[in-house]
Amino acid sequence: MCGIVGYTGAQNAKEILLEGLKKLEYRGYDSAGLALVHPGTLKVVKGTGEINKLEEKINGDGKDSFAGIGHTRWATHGRPTDENAHPHYSCCQNFAIVHNGIIENYQQLRQWLEGEGHKFRSETDTEILAHLVEHYYQGELVEAVRQAVSFVEGSYAMVAVAAGEGDHLVCARKDSPLVIGLGEEENFIASDIPALLAHTRRVYILEDEEMASVTSSGVQLFNLQGDSVSREVFEVKWDAVEAERGGYPHFMLKEIMEQPTAVRETLRGRVDAQTGEVSLSELKLSSKEIESLAKIHIVACGTAYHAGVVGRYAFEKMLKIPVEVELASEFRYREPLLSPHDLVIVISQSGETADTLAALRLAKQQGVKVLAITNVVGSTVSREADDVIFTWAGPEIAVASTKAYLTQLVVLYLLSIGFAFIRQTGEEETFATYGRSLLDIPDKIDQILETKSLQKMQDYAAKLAGSENAFFIGRNLDFAVAMEGSLKLKEISYIHAEAYAAGELKHGTLALITSGVPVIALATQEHVLEKTISNVQEVKARDGDILIVTLKGNEQVENHAQQVYYLPEIEDLLAPLLAAVPLQLISYYAAETRGCPIDKPRNLAKSVTVE
Ligand code: F6R
Repeated sequence: MCGIVGYTGAQNAKEILLEGLKKLEYRGYDSAGLALVHPGTLKVVKGTGEINKLEEKINGDGKDSFAGIGHTRWATHGRPTDENAHPHYSCCQNFAIVHNGIIENYQQLRQWLEGEGHKFRSETDTEILAHLVEHYYQGELVEAVRQAVSFVEGSYAMVAVAAGEGDHLVCARKDSPLVIGLGEEENFIASDIPALLAHTRRVYILEDEEMASVTSSGVQLFNLQGDSVSREVFEVKWDAVEAERGGYPHFMLKEIMEQPTAVRETLRGRVDAQTGEVSLSELKLSSKEIESLAKIHIVACGTAYHAGVVGRYAFEKMLKIPVEVELASEFRYREPLLSPHDLVIVISQSGETADTLAALRLAKQQGVKVLAITNVVGSTVSREADDVIFTWAGPEIAVASTKAYLTQLVVLYLLSIGFAFIRQTGEEETFATYGRSLLDIPDKIDQILETKSLQKMQDYAAKLAGSENAFFIGRNLDFAVAMEGSLKLKEISYIHAEAYAAGELKHGTLALITSGVPVIALATQEHVLEKTISNVQEVKARDGDILIVTLKGNEQVENHAQQVYYLPEIEDLLAPLLAAVPLQLISYYAAETRGCPIDKPRNLAKSVTVE
């Protein structure tokens, strides 16, 4: 989730590009850079830090440049360093590239290009593109970019400039957004509409596997076969603030809607669609170490802890070894008993949570390996852990975590399936089926996010918004999801919510169930479905208002509740990946009805770096 800008026209390119990058700062960044076109040469200035730092670095340079590209980086491959900042240029420094996305086959391509004599300066996947363009350039930048991207597996939104092509910019996209802003004798490129709004509201939205040749005097669109493509101009009606949120009223809703993409990105290159095998080659943990694991401790805070609770069920089912899940704030003060063959997994979206970091350090002091699951490359957790596996959710801006949670679940499933293949703890075909089913998750989330389904959540939430208390119940994995559902509801709508293991209700909490008290019952787990339904009956007998969230095919629950919401069919083990989504939506719409400040709930911060 980096930010891209490009400009070609009669104005000073540096000013326009810097201003565009500032408009993309809300996406989060760790470094930034520009490539400015001067006659016969390119000037690349880049480095870590804020746009202001870049501005100081450029200082008086670039006054006579009228075309160029710019980038704010949110690190994926390679830490946030000056060398890894974009733009990247080729060996001869005549080509510069900015890129957003992940190139899966970059290691193979790098090996091949190094064999051809190319010298690399960074650890990034992006630099491949600069060398590929140089390799295929025979006087036509469009053709060189077309050839370059044809070798790339993965996702990209990229823009290239060449020293020898004057004001010419060439861009291409696959699975990562790119828009072209249309001006008078000037044109713009950006990853996001906010970067364009100061100049134009007329845009072409580039589709997947399309590219464009952009000069000050015109824009031509092509597909990757080189055939020209025509496109209607899209008039942007959003104001600047709406545009930052992609037209959504809140970042939280935008991030909920981004979940199919976030999950797809997190799965990218990690599951073989044919064999269902999970590739964990990015881990330093050896197969031998995985085989000899005796116990797993999962440690995290808040939503990340709730992801860990799902992880426990998955690991225990797949690996048949004991798993403990613990709140980092408790673990660090508990003198935990860790053994050399244990693995501690810390989960942290930000990678900066003080308690999680302290737990990580404690485990390391005791000589136990720590594997981090985090969303932020270069974060303290990612640097201090022995091993790290990233969620590719992109920057999460709303305080309430949504897409980070879902991608944490994805990584936990990947680890449990991948480890199970290595440890041979069951039938390979069973693991393979789970692996393949993970790849279907993005489309199933898309179904949940369809308008009709959203309307159901909205209607239910409108009713829930009038309550001061709500209960979430479930058994097994459903209990884990219930915990996250209740946290989401209380933190953004301020409705008091509690999650209970459904079997526990009758041990005390049932006293709180009176007429009309909302109870959301998660019922996706076939082997405990009947048990859950009998707990639902206990609520019904006290006139509680029940919503059952279950999988399609479980229509026998229909008569037990006032409302039933059916999720697309999926293996029970993977159901949390779907069940969490309607709960996020219910919380969001309830908070909206109550007029709460959804993206910044009272008393909360996105990253908790204090105890
Ligand atoms: C709730 C939420 C928090 C975080 C928690 C840990 O929506 O976002 O509960 O999950 O503060 O944060 P990270 O994952 O950054 O360590």
